Amino acid sequence: MIRRRLAIVALAVMLPACASGRNQAEPAASSDVETAASSAVADLVPVTYDLGLPDWTPPPLEPASNRLNADKVELGRRLFYDVRLSANLTKSCASCHRQELAFTDGLAVSPGVTGDHTPRNSMSLANVAYAPVMTWGNPLLHSLEQQALVPLFGQEPVELGMAGLEAEMRRRLEAEPIYRDLFPKAFPDRKGEISLATVVRALSAFERTLISVNSPYDRYRYEGDVNAIPDAAIRGEALFFSEKFECHHCHNNFNLNDNVMHARAPHPEIAFHNTALYNVDGKGAYPAENTGIAELTGRPEDMGRFKAPTLRNIAVTAPYMHDGSITTLDEVLDHYAAGGRTITSGPNAGVGHDNPLKSSFVPGFIMTPEERADLIAFLTSTTDEQFLKDPRFSDPWKQRR
Ligand code: HEC
Ligand code: HEC
Repeated sequence: MIRRRLAIVALAVMLPACASGRNQAEPAASSDVETAASSAVADLVPVTYDLGLPDWTPPPLEPASNRLNADKVELGRRLFYDVRLSANLTKSCASCHRQELAFTDGLAVSPGVTGDHTPRNSMSLANVAYAPVMTWGNPLLHSLEQQALVPLFGQEPVELGMAGLEAEMRRRLEAEPIYRDLFPKAFPDRKGEISLATVVRALSAFERTLISVNSPYDRYRYEGDVNAIPDAAIRGEALFFSEKFECHHCHNNFNLNDNVMHARAPHPEIAFHNTALYNVDGKGAYPAENTGIAELTGRPEDMGRFKAPTLRNIAVTAPYMHDGSITTLDEVLDHYAAGGRTITSGPNAGVGHDNPLKSSFVPGFIMTPEERADLIAFLTSTTDEQFLKDPRFSDPWKQRR
């Protein structure tokens, strides 16, 4: 498993080298993938493309080398839903990121093309444009451009399984008339080349448009519509932001997390927390396949520290947590109320409450049935039906047939 993580870090560096070795005609494109990946943070500018943001929503940032345009977004949408990006033509990004589930997949962990499973739970892509670090626990993975390489080419686990098939991918895409039209429109600066560089840029462009800011909670909180959510949700919001329940320490910005970067706050806020989901050895250990950022930093104190995910659309993104090990929102509340989950039997048995590495913001609390119902009503009020059904984010290949 450690090899998997290290491989991920190495990917961005290795891939361009492989690509240019194989096709001498493309050195510019190849080194640009590397550039897009490694300099993402240094080289960010506010998005000016019309994302349809209400005034209260800050514009996200994008790499200066990959500005959004309508054709690029349309191309990225095609690619996101295209099984040609998988070794055996059976899966696409959308297999594990389904729009109706806020771009999660409803599974605890997800099968790739060879039946390998990801060790982690698929993440919502709602407002991913605002994320300064990608995935549940990788402080080194900064850009969507870089992240897209992982499902495409990762080998531990295999997801889309395209390692070694870059030339085949290009042949497949060149054979599709829609792409022969869209690549030149999307990338006039690169003469419409079909390459790894343009594929990951287009995918990232589409992902940056996946904006979810139209939930009833948004209308209540940011647009002054006092009737948009029920009284229970209003009470639940107050509990969520209270010092008794502590949720807001880690789920605090407009995406209800604490990993964010945008035009009005260009300095990234990045944090990882241990919420005492496990304590398998009494000293704070998490199961070996998912130890959080400790896997990359090697620091014992980073054991079990993960990114707090957005809680937008949380009612439709079950199961929960980095490994999908909690099935319902009620059980999530039980976990926090206990100050860390207790597992009574099996290989992961342990008392989370006693995890010595847990965050001080997970002390546990006593919750009445009314408070529980109010918190759930609040969490449910972040479901953005418009986002889940928006035709701009749906499968474009279905509409053609
Ligand atoms: C086999 C299932 C699977 C496929 C296919 C897949 N993903 Fe994912 N995706 C996941 C899982 C699981 C995670 C969490 C990974 C982790 O934490 O290590 C994830 C995480 C992400 C994230 C990070 C989101 C965040 O908030 O940090 C992005 C972005 C993403 N995927 C985009 C894509 C794109 C683009 C594709 C297609 C090129 C794709 N995914 C294909 C399962 C999948
Ligand atoms: C110390 C920071 C912290 C506090 C306090 C906190 N959370 Fe979290 N939350 C996280 C992290 C980190 C995760 C992911 C943990 C993991 O997967 O191991 C998470 C996960 C979740 C999830 C699952 C999200 C998903 O997509 O799977 C929900 C729901 C949630 N928290 C709600 C709450 C509520 C409600 C409270 C208050 C009772 C709360 N959180 C308090 C950091 C925190």
